[in-house]
Amino acid sequence: MASYPELSGRVVAVTGAAQGIGAATARAFAAQGAAVALLDIDEAGMKGVADAIAGKGKKPLTIKCDVTDERSVAQAIERVAAGLKGLDVLINCAGGYGRLSSVADMPPDEWDRTIALNLRSVFLVSRAAIPHLKRSKAGRVINVSSISGRAVTVASSPAYVASKAGVIQLTRYLAQELGPHGVTANAIAPITTLTPRVAALRTEAEVERIAALVPLKRLAEPEDHAQAMLFLASDAASYLNGVTLDVNGGRVMM
Ligand SMILES: NC(=O)c1ccc[n+]([C@@H]2O[C@H](COP(=O)([O-])OP(=O)(O)OC[C@H]3O[C@@H](n4cnc5c(N)ncnc54)[C@H](O)[C@@H]3O)[C@@H](O)[C@H]2O)c1
Repeated sequence: MASYPELSGRVVAVTGAAQGIGAATARAFAAQGAAVALLDIDEAGMKGVADAIAGKGKKPLTIKCDVTDERSVAQAIERVAAGLKGLDVLINCAGGYGRLSSVADMPPDEWDRTIALNLRSVFLVSRAAIPHLKRSKAGRVINVSSISGRAVTVASSPAYVASKAGVIQLTRYLAQELGPHGVTANAIAPITTLTPRVAALRTEAEVERIAALVPLKRLAEPEDHAQAMLFLASDAASYLNGVTLDVNGGRVMM
């Protein structure tokens, strides 16, 4: 992993940190010496991630939080700011979808739940974090979109692809709103990454087919995304605002 000494001591909150890309991101920031808060609905998962991080350094804060629930989000962000004395970097990583689907067979309540998990969540958590980020000397919002928000390339979920496109545009709006306060907002758009959730969604043959279409001939590892987010949080990225980094091995070039 790259080294960014300026991240040491920064307060970083990661949603969806109990597994997958969020967990890898929390580990990566902790390894830079950041004070990390894990936010997730999965308490057991968070404990496992926190214990592993604590074995190598400072124990992260773990806060049970449903990112789709306004009150839960407000309480969690206040606990981060009170417990770690502020908030410098917000990483909106919680998201995903449970099954492949067409528009024709998607019940409206599944649409609403998926949009809430992937888009309402980014709005709610960012909104709660804004007062704290404005007080930071290096405030950052980093949102996790998806290659599915950039282009339609494989079977997915219509609500998911729409929500992830929404995350990119919300990121730009945040960039415009927060820029005057010295806070940047950027996103990453990961390609298929074999987290436990995605391994359950796709067959091995599908995974091989998707990997073969990537110029780099492999799918991403969670750490590829964590590296991109370390960079976006670092001083080296201080003039990047409103961008979406395509962490996709060249599969879709925007
Ligand atoms: N894995 C991929 O192929 C891939 C590709 C592109 C984008 N992404 C995006 O990356 C992010 C992480 O994906 P992943 O594959 O690591 O997912 P994952 O399912 O492995 O982890 C998601 C985490 O979010 C948590 N979570 C779910 N609902 C929540 C809620 N309401 N409140 C709080 N936490 C909640 C889960 O408990 C879990 O720990 C998601 O936003 C996903 O859309 C993933």
